[in-house]
Amino acid sequence: MKKTLVFLGLLTLTGGGYAQSSIALLASTCAACHGTNGHSVSSEMPSLAGLKPAYFIQQMHDFASGQREASVMQHHAAAYSEDEIRALAEYFSVQ
Ligand code: HEC
Repeated sequence: MKKTLVFLGLLTLTGGGYAQSSIALLASTCAACHGTNGHSVSSEMPSLAGLKPAYFIQQMHDFASGQREASVMQHHAAAYSEDEIRALAEYFSVQ
């Protein structure tokens, strides 16, 4: 019960979504390969900045299911929840 109250309190604080800072933190784990805020500096690596959310979400699903082959990304995509993928999609689309 106490846990539920704390959780609800957090939801209220963050407006029911993810706090911007926690998404920035999640997104920073992508920076090692995709560049800061998704601006890739390598022609080998796709930029994430400015991708349309629907496209981004579809790619993450396809990586996770193995429909789009990419061993590194399959690993990454499978580790995130639906909410996190959606939040990341929104985050990168406006970078
Ligand atoms: C270890 C390196 C690495 C990390 C870390 C990484 N990626 Fe990737 N990502 C790749 C590679 C390589 C590709 C290209 C895959 C391919 O098509 O062969 C890719 C492709 C993608 C694509 C498809 C882009 C397009 O234009 O189709 C998305 C979306 C994506 N990554 C999201 C993410 C997100 C979100 C994170 C962080 C949670 C992340 N990646 C972390 C290596 C990485």
